[in-house]
Amino acid sequence: MGLDQPRLNDAGEDVWIDVIQKMDEVYSDLIQSQTELEDKNDALEEADEFIRSVLGAMTDVLIVCDAHGRIQQVNPALVSMTGQSEDVLLGTPFADLFAEEDKDKAGGFLDLLVVGKDVAPCDVGLRVKEGPAAVVALNCRPRHDHRGRLAGMVMVGRPIGELQRAYRELDAAHEQLSQAQQRLLVSEKMAALGRLVAGVAHELNNPISFVFGNMYALKRYGSAIKKYLTASDNHVSRQEMEALRKDLKIDKVLRDIGPLVDGTLEGAERVRDIVEDLRRFSSNQQEAPETFNVVRLMHTAVDWVIKAQRIKPGITFNAPDCLEMTSRKGHVHQIVVNLVQNAADVLSGREDGTIDLSCSSENGTIVIRVADNGTGIAQAEMDKLFEPFFTTKPIGSGTGLGLYVSYNMALKLGGDLQAANRPEGGAEFTLRIPDHVPQTV
Ligand SMILES: Nc1ncnc2c1ncn2[C@@H]1O[C@H](COP(=O)(O)OP(=O)(O)O)[C@@H](O)[C@H]1O
Ligand SMILES: [Mg+2]
Repeated sequence: MGLDQPRLNDAGEDVWIDVIQKMDEVYSDLIQSQTELEDKNDALEEADEFIRSVLGAMTDVLIVCDAHGRIQQVNPALVSMTGQSEDVLLGTPFADLFAEEDKDKAGGFLDLLVVGKDVAPCDVGLRVKEGPAAVVALNCRPRHDHRGRLAGMVMVGRPIGELQRAYRELDAAHEQLSQAQQRLLVSEKMAALGRLVAGVAHELNNPISFVFGNMYALKRYGSAIKKYLTASDNHVSRQEMEALRKDLKIDKVLRDIGPLVDGTLEGAERVRDIVEDLRRFSSNQQEAPETFNVVRLMHTAVDWVIKAQRIKPGITFNAPDCLEMTSRKGHVHQIVVNLVQNAADVLSGREDGTIDLSCSSENGTIVIRVADNGTGIAQAEMDKLFEPFFTTKPIGSGTGLGLYVSYNMALKLGGDLQAANRPEGGAEFTLRIPDHVPQTV
């Protein structure tokens, strides 16, 4: 400030300083409000965008209207279904969206909400661009303002066509899954059958060679008797007949014929039983429960498996001669075969392998144990044993389905199957099944 200019007095200066300070404050307040406003605007835009993207992602249709039934908000799904733009729809009565026959019903929604009642979910038709109305499963809820007063309602509709398609797809997926499961069961059974074939062939060989032997003997006996009878017809002398009788061993032949025929029949029956067991084993039909001797069934299962082993493990059997049960014989047979097969697998190549089997009846439950002196089961594998495809066998030798299938069969028979390690080493599987299969399974 120059010396020749008039000086303001102190009080005048203070006023100016005050004014400038106030202006500064106002200015900074202004800047502050401006930034806040911009932030709020950004947040608002973001929220708006967020809501739009959520509404846009909905496949269900959305209609929001005010307390007078005028549309306030719709989503793209509704726009594309009705073929009318959002701008056209906003502010129009919501009831106009509905097909003629459902207009009255929809129009009553607000009346119900006004008196505090609920609108039950229902199927209604919506007018569409062209063609018949699109039926949606509609949910209608009230909307309240910040004071808790009814401000309108929100309707969400799921196109039934889409629902039905989803159901159909679910159904098809379910069907595919059960078919795949069925195929899995069949392939496990076929794999088991493949392994058993050698054992079964051996089993069949015994009675068949027995029947053959007997038939040859019977044929010889037949010609001896024929010779003797021809001589008798030719009126040969009594002494000659006696000599012939001795020569042809007719008395022995007559003595032997009965037991020979019985033995042959028994052999043929045995063949029939084996074929029957085999048929049952390979059958994919749900079989009806029948009464059978489970101990005999265990013997057959063991015979089938062991006969096919190169080095045969020792077998101990702790069971009465006969224990009857009424159950699905094929299932029980398949479980026992699987358990014995696993025991034989773990003992394969060993000279000192033993499989210990037992069967007892405890308060209406048949308890079958199959134990071996193999490697046992590693603790980490204990939980996985019954999972499908869990196998520790090389590719080609194990399917990993034997225990899975067996476990599920045991459940189906109303029982269960458990695995454990024996204190003396080796694994032990315990199958428990009711001696009468429950009616419901
Ligand atoms: N007696 C057993 N001793 C040791 N491990 C066993 C025994 N039985 C089953 N396991 C284990 O359980 C796995 C699954 O058995 P399983 O379901 O029958 O399929 P797979 O025999 O085809 O491997 C076997 O690979 C094996 O590791
Ligand atoms: Mg197996």
